[in-house]
Amino acid sequence: MASLRSLGAVALLPLVWALQSHQPREDASGDGFVKLAVHASQAGTADAFEAPLTAKWAGFAYFINVTIGSDNQTVPLWLDSGSYEIWVNPSCASAPLWSRDDCNASPRYSPFTSQTSKILNDAFNLTYGGGGMVALGSWFSDDMSIGSATVKDQHFGVAADSTGFEAGLMGIGIPESDPHPNFVSNLAERKLVNSNAFSLDLRSPNETGSIIFGGIDTKKYKCKLERVPADGFTLNLTGFGQTFPNGSKTTYAPYLWNKNNFSQGLPVFLDSGSNVNYLSNDVISVIGEDYPGAKQVINEIGLPEWIVPCEAPEGTFDFSFGSTTVKIPYRDMMVGDYSPNKNQTTNECLLGFGLGPQDQGLIPHILGNNFMRGAYLVFDSENSEIWLDEADNCGLDIIPIGKGNVSVPRVPGCKCKAASSATASYAVPAPTLPPLHPHQPRGIAAG
Ligand SMILES: *[C@@H]1O[C@H](CO)[C@@H](O)[C@H](O)[C@H]1NC(C)=O
Ligand SMILES: *[C@@H]1O[C@H](CO)[C@@H](O)[C@H](O)[C@H]1NC(C)=O
Ligand SMILES: *[C@@H]1O[C@H](CO)[C@@H](O)[C@H](O)[C@H]1NC(C)=O
Ligand SMILES: *[C@@H]1O[C@H](CO)[C@@H](O)[C@H](O)[C@H]1NC(C)=O
Ligand SMILES: *[C@@H]1O[C@H](CO)[C@@H](O)[C@H](O)[C@H]1NC(C)=O
Ligand SMILES: *[C@@H]1O[C@H](CO)[C@@H](O)[C@H](O)[C@H]1NC(C)=O
Ligand SMILES: *[C@@H]1O[C@H](CO)[C@@H](O)[C@H](O)[C@H]1NC(C)=O
Ligand SMILES: *[C@@H]1O[C@H](CO)[C@@H](O)[C@H](O)[C@H]1NC(C)=O
Ligand SMILES: *[C@@H]1O[C@H](CO)[C@@H](O)[C@H](O)[C@H]1NC(C)=O
Repeated sequence: MASLRSLGAVALLPLVWALQSHQPREDASGDGFVKLAVHASQAGTADAFEAPLTAKWAGFAYFINVTIGSDNQTVPLWLDSGSYEIWVNPSCASAPLWSRDDCNASPRYSPFTSQTSKILNDAFNLTYGGGGMVALGSWFSDDMSIGSATVKDQHFGVAADSTGFEAGLMGIGIPESDPHPNFVSNLAERKLVNSNAFSLDLRSPNETGSIIFGGIDTKKYKCKLERVPADGFTLNLTGFGQTFPNGSKTTYAPYLWNKNNFSQGLPVFLDSGSNVNYLSNDVISVIGEDYPGAKQVINEIGLPEWIVPCEAPEGTFDFSFGSTTVKIPYRDMMVGDYSPNKNQTTNECLLGFGLGPQDQGLIPHILGNNFMRGAYLVFDSENSEIWLDEADNCGLDIIPIGKGNVSVPRVPGCKCKAASSATASYAVPAPTLPPLHPHQPRGIAAG
């Protein structure tokens, strides 16, 4: 999640989750890459309903297993592209109420049983999500493994106290200034992977996604990965619209979603720790008017938000980056169940677009994990690029990312036509989707 520079509306971000613990391990590794299963937590199950706080908000977070120490202690960590520090051992007593049982049942790291642990002479005090989420403790180093790759002496924190976390945090973001290399760059520096790059395939809670350090899975995107310049994990959104269940489309005028009229689009930060997207507030007020069956409610901090049927119809939200439009299915934009009383199923979900202080610059504009669920993303930090396409799933074929310029392999994905062989170029380079027209003014909202 993004660290906020001030307390804003997003301090009350609807973050509600419970660890889903019935998934098999699906880790793998090969020449120059390491793959690790990423599981979505799931709220809205019968189990979660029993905790009173889940009654109002439900959402998703994503977890990975990390193994630490000479005695191979495996702990689940919350995967967060919006921060870069790693820390373990949350205080379950101050975890969200609904998640305390899961938190207490989760394994914890003990530095005392590991012969390779070292306490560093330094303390940490980290604040997340507007100040409501805090972790503090001591920095350590120890051997840390994902799959079969071990980074010796990885820097991470062992919390003495935390608030609002049911699990520790695996920050995979890029530090603004480099206090200590993060896990991803350590993998590259120590030549465990070819390049400081990873691909992220977040999936619906009923499926297992993955993060692949140093590789891509060519069977997990639609056709062609678009190469987009990035500043860290921030890239420019150049168009935004909706395709309705009846097939007709709306594109929103840029001044609605790009309030400051930035010439090359709206810089958006890809944050797997956020379960809501934060575009300019104006467009969020408008998209629900177009969404079938949406109704506006005022939340407890006085901001309007859109409540929609949990069973989403077939439409998409259409995000353009350069010449590629990534269509995210409505169903990926649902955040939990809105029902105030979990004994009744009202089939009401929050539409995952949040009003907040993003237009004032207090937080970045964010595309959160509900965008990321519908996309396949390759974060190439070595070349400051993000490669992306719509997510798909037609098997498994992992290819390592190389070194240097344009090192992400250009291999056709699931639905490129006439792919005669897996050559180094795309069989069908042209996007099959009609282009959106970012400058086309939007009818009803123009006034
Ligand atoms: C982590 O490991 C546990 C125990 O093997 C397993 O139940 C759980 O599903 C794993 N979680 C993830 C995210 O891989
Ligand atoms: C820890 O895991 C590594 C790699 O799988 C293995 O070689 C080692 O024997 C394990 N150590 C213990 C104490 O289980
Ligand atoms: C941690 O940082 C917060 C915010 O800077 C501060 O209010 C708090 O006192 C600090 N806690 C400790 C134990 O240093
Ligand atoms: C998961 O749910 C989605 C949406 O409801 C559905 O399209 C998909 O087929 C499901 N996947 C599995 C493996 O059941
Ligand atoms: C995004 O666009 C702005 C201008 O609107 C430009 O300054 C910036 O470099 C662009 N960012 C990236 C990552 O290309
Ligand atoms: C399609 O659905 C949208 C949203 O409900 C509606 O505004 C539009 O008029 C519909 N178009 C047609 C041709 O029915
Ligand atoms: C952006 O453009 C719109 C429409 O052209 C204009 O009304 C608005 O004042 C502009 N905003 C800024 C911050 O320049
Ligand atoms: C929900 O049902 C349970 C068991 O029937 C009951 O104890 C509880 O008070 C109910 N909760 C609400 C909010 O009605
Ligand atoms: C990478 O590609 C760009 C554009 O093609 C070129 O200008 C640059 O020199 C290349 N850099 C390296 C290290 O090859």
